[in-house]
Amino acid sequence: MGDPSWAWPVFLIWTGLACICFAILMFVRAPYGRHQQAGWGPTLPARTAWVLMEGCSLMVMTGLFFASHAPGTLALTGFSLWLFHYGYRSFIYPVRAQITHKTMPLLVALLAITFNIVNATFNGLALFFWQPGEAATLNLGLTSLAGLFLFGMGFSIHLHSDQVLRELRSSTSSPSTEYQIPNKGLHRWVSSPNYLGELIQWLGFALLINNLAAWSFFIWTGANLIPRAIANRAWYKTTFTDYPGHRTALIPFLF
Ligand SMILES: NC(=O)c1ccc[n+]([C@@H]2O[C@H](COP(=O)([O-])OP(=O)(O)OC[C@H]3O[C@@H](n4cnc5c(N)ncnc54)[C@H](OP(=O)(O)O)[C@@H]3O)[C@@H](O)[C@H]2O)c1
Repeated sequence: MGDPSWAWPVFLIWTGLACICFAILMFVRAPYGRHQQAGWGPTLPARTAWVLMEGCSLMVMTGLFFASHAPGTLALTGFSLWLFHYGYRSFIYPVRAQITHKTMPLLVALLAITFNIVNATFNGLALFFWQPGEAATLNLGLTSLAGLFLFGMGFSIHLHSDQVLRELRSSTSSPSTEYQIPNKGLHRWVSSPNYLGELIQWLGFALLINNLAAWSFFIWTGANLIPRAIANRAWYKTTFTDYPGHRTALIPFLF
């Protein structure tokens, strides 16, 4: 890794916060989507919230790219993957999601925006300013190829899993806010395959880029999504009496 020595304290503090966040989310369900409840203050339309939350990640990273000078091939690859993911998540996902009548607490959106700004700043600085010499060049060794493969596989999994959920609502005569049991793709084995895909994707990114910022992003993704996957499975089981008992939360047959 080419990180400067003072990136370590930043990493440790930021990753420590992820651990605290993980512990809190094991007891408090982030109040959006199926876990939304009254009493979390003002709300905004869910579609607007997703564009704002994810779009800032795209803007910060793009700003740092333009501020950099002659980024190496590794930085350019990381930047391309970032644009690919956040282009989808900021603009395509919110437009296609069946959430027209949904809202999101402003507090949740502000917390997500704060996280995305810090995360994109950390990753952008590490990609464009902290990778000296050889560390800035993409090497096509086994680890990098595995990283690229996992990124592509993870993206495909969460793309398809989100699509299965979307079709549950678009297949009814009028778009609704109702929930059904999904029975296609990886949904047949786990309750939250979209989260599994996202985790695999950012594991691939961390393997490929291999700096502290990328690894901290992977840890943060787990801190956010593992407790929510557990909560989603519990929600399915209490909401649908016929929910298949063999479905695990996140990893088929294991967890
Ligand atoms: N990297 C990270 O830290 C992070 C954090 C959070 C989310 N994400 C990603 O963002 C995406 C969305 O996250 P999310 O937490 O909103 O995912 P989610 O709870 O699985 O919901 C995804 C979409 O499907 C709808 N939906 C979910 N279950 C449904 C069902 N049984 N029947 C019909 N519709 C259903 C939801 O509607 P409602 O909104 O009405 O529930 C929402 O529009 C995911 O791909 C996730 O991986 C990433």
